[in-house]
Amino acid sequence: MSHGWWSKLLDRSIIASYDRTGYERHAAAFVDDDRRRHQRVLITGGTAGIGLAHAQHLHALGASVRLWGRDASKAAAAMASLDKASDRATFDAVDMGDLDAVRRAVDALPAVPFDVVTLNAGAMPLTRTLTPQGHELVWASQVLGHFLLVRLLHATQRLSSDARIVWVSSGGMYTQPLQLEDLRRDAHYDRHVTYAQAKRAQVVLAARMQREWPSMVVVSMHPGWVDTEAVRHSMPMFHRIMRHRLRTPEQGADTLTWLATTTSKLQGGAFYFDRSPQPLHLKSSTEESPADVERLWSLMTNATSST
Ligand SMILES: NC(=O)c1ccc[n+]([C@@H]2O[C@H](COP(=O)([O-])OP(=O)(O)OC[C@H]3O[C@@H](n4cnc5c(N)ncnc54)[C@H](OP(=O)(O)O)[C@@H]3O)[C@@H](O)[C@H]2O)c1
Repeated sequence: MSHGWWSKLLDRSIIASYDRTGYERHAAAFVDDDRRRHQRVLITGGTAGIGLAHAQHLHALGASVRLWGRDASKAAAAMASLDKASDRATFDAVDMGDLDAVRRAVDALPAVPFDVVTLNAGAMPLTRTLTPQGHELVWASQVLGHFLLVRLLHATQRLSSDARIVWVSSGGMYTQPLQLEDLRRDAHYDRHVTYAQAKRAQVVLAARMQREWPSMVVVSMHPGWVDTEAVRHSMPMFHRIMRHRLRTPEQGADTLTWLATTTSKLQGGAFYFDRSPQPLHLKSSTEESPADVERLWSLMTNATSST
C-alpha cells in the first residue's frame, strides 16, 4: 500500500479507499509473490459474489474447492463457471445458520484435511429471522455456524496442521463494539447494527482462535465495497449511489485469495484489507476487554456444544 500523504488522506476518506479507486491505488503496490498451489479449500458462501470469485481464483491455482451455500440454482451456475472436467469442484447444500445442518455436513466430509477454510457466507436479512435452533440468523450463520464449522473440522482432524482460516468480515465492524447482550434481537432488530456487530465478533474470534490454535494461521479481512447481490438487495440506496465506484467481485476477492495462498509471512489474528494488516479499532469506545473476549469464547463454545 502506498504511504504518500495524498494516499493516506484518501485512505482516511474511507470512500476513496473501500471503493474501486482504492483497490486500484493499493494494488499498484502489490508484489508478485509466490503462491501455494493445489490446496484443498472449503469456502462457505462460495456460490456467488466474492466467495465465487475467490473459488475461481483458487481453482485456477490448481486448488480443489468445496463450495457451501443454500441455493441450488446459484450452486449450479457456480459449478458451471469452474472447470468441472478437472473434478476439482464440489458443492454441498448447507445453511450456515442451521447448526445441525453444519454438523451433518462436516460428518459427511471425506477424512482428508483442508489447507484453507474461508468463512465467507453472509447476508444482511431485511427482517429478523430465527433459525431452527432459535438463534437470530445473522449471528447464527456468520458467527456461530462458522465457529462450529472450524471447531468440528479441528476436532475431527480435518484441518492440516498449518491450515489457514480466513474470516470474511467487513469494515462496517469499525462502527460497533463487541456486543453480547440480546443476541436473539428480541428487543429490536436493526439489520445494519446486527450485521456490524456480527462482523466485529468475527474479528475478535479470529484473534482469539489464533491464540487457541497457534500452528494454524487465523485472520479476518475486509473485501472493500463490492458490487454483489447482497449489496443490491440489502443496501439498495447505497448501491444506487455507489454503483459506479464499487469493486468487482474479483477485486473484492483479491486479498482473500492472497491470504489463502501467499507464501509471504502473515500476521496471525490480524484484520487485513488490500493485503495489509489494519488497526482493529478506529476509536477507543469500540475496544473490548480481555474478559469480554473470554466471555465471547465461552458463549461460542457453549452454544456449539452438541449436548
Ligand atoms: N459486498 C460487499 O461490499 C461486502 C463488504 C464487506 C463484507 N462483505 C462480506 O463478504 C461476504 C460475501 O458477501 P457477498 O457480497 O459476496 O454476497 P453475495 O454475492 O450475496 O454472496 C453471499 C454468499 O453467501 C451464501 N450465503 C448467505 N447466507 C448463507 C447461509 N445462511 N448459509 C450458507 N450460505 C449462505 C450465498 O449463497 P446462498 O444464497 O445460496 O445461501 C452466497 O454464496 C459476506 O460475509 C459479506 O458480509 C461484503
